[in-house]
This record gives sequence, C-alpha cells and structure tokens, in this order.
Amino acid sequence: MAKVQIVFYSMYGHVYQLAEAIAEGAREVPDTQVSLYQVPELVPDDVLEKMGAKAARQAFADIPIAEPARLAEADAIIFGTPTRFGNMCAQMRNFLDQTGQLWMKGALVGKVGSVFTSTGTQHGGQETTITSFHSTLLHQGMIIVGVPYTVQELTNMEEITGGSPYGASTLAGGDGSRQPTENELAIARFQGKHVAEIARKLCR
Ligand SMILES: Cc1cc2nc3c(=O)[nH]c(=O)nc-3n(C[C@H](O)[C@H](O)[C@H](O)COP(=O)(O)O)c2cc1C
Repeated sequence: MAKVQIVFYSMYGHVYQLAEAIAEGAREVPDTQVSLYQVPELVPDDVLEKMGAKAARQAFADIPIAEPARLAEADAIIFGTPTRFGNMCAQMRNFLDQTGQLWMKGALVGKVGSVFTSTGTQHGGQETTITSFHSTLLHQGMIIVGVPYTVQELTNMEEITGGSPYGASTLAGGDGSRQPTENELAIARFQGKHVAEIARKLCR
C-alpha cells in the first residue's frame, strides 16, 4: 500500500479544487491510500473576512489540519500553494519551517515530492512558485516528480490554461472569479496518478 498525502493551503478554494482533482487521480492507482490535509491558517479571522476569504474557506473546513510529524508516514507528498509574490504562501512556509526535526532524522529522504499551484494572473509566477518550492524538497532529500509532456493537455494552445511540466496549476483571475478549467483539472488528475504510480514502484 502506497501512502500519498496531499498537503495544501488555499485562501479562496482554487488550490483546494486542484487538490481534490489530484486526489481523484491518485485514487485511480490500486493499493494507494490518499489523504488530504490543509496547513494551519495564519491570517486573523477579521482580516480573512475583509479579504473575502472566510466564506470560501468554509467549503473545505472539514479537511483535517496537517501536522509536520505526519509527513513521515507518507511515501509521497504532493504540496499545493497559491502564489504570493512568485513564491509559496507564508502558511505553507511556516508549516515547512516546522519540519526541522524530520530533516535532522532524514525522515523524508527518498519520498516522492511534487508541487502544484494557483496564481491570480497568467504570468504571475506559477513556475517560480513551484521550482522555488523544490529547493525545500531537495533539502529534505525528496525525489521530485512533475508532469511529463505525455499529458496532451500541457500542449493545449486553444485556450489560456495553467499546467506545466513543473506541476498542475490554475489561474484565479485578479478577482478570483476564474475557476479551474477541465484542461487544468485533467493535468491535476494526471499529476496525482503519476505521483501515486511512482510511489508504488518505490514501495515495492
Ligand atoms: C499577498 C498576495 C500576493 C499575491 N501574489 C501574487 C503573484 O505574485 N502573482 C499572481 O499571479 N497572483 C498573486 N496573488 C493572487 C493569488 O495567487 C490568488 O489569490 C490565488 O492563486 C488563489 O488561489 P486560492 O483560491 O487557492 O487561494 C497574490 C495574492 C495575495 C493575497
């Protein structure tokens, strides 16, 4: 049994929707246990309210809160974060900064690591967010997996779309009104399946 954890932060639900699609893809792989976790919120309630995020976050309030120590139980971890100035969000950074004990023990060495993201705008930093996230995974000794070009949706030029060889992604729009498209969700499902298949091979 390969254990795949999907650990994400989402403020308005875009990254959460990708997380569910990734979980769907991972569940297609036999003998795979898939768990979703969200990292703790850091923004005060009244600020979330002003940012219009409180209602959106209700949609996935039932997803359990991630605990750093539990990462050690996984064979593969797929991390999801919205872009903040071209980087991962502070909530995810804060969570990862609590994995020092795991790093000291080498507890994540040899596990599969993969990343997905969401930006407001088309060129707002999807690739920088994912590739800069990879540095942390490499320090933890993880094996990085992206999305190969065998996924035909990656080459779709008929519409504006997220998704790259670095990982699944979506574009939320400046006001957050754009929702993940079928093309983006297909790439996310593939990422989940691909990571789970590799984790299973490594578990044998
Ligand atoms: C402080 C802050 C910084 C942001 N920086 C960027 C950015 O650099 N590029 C961009 O395209 N979008 C940026 N955004 C927009 C978010 O990435 C967008 O709201 C997010 O992808 C939506 O995902 P979510 O619904 O899962 O929270 C920023 C948003 C905030 C609040």
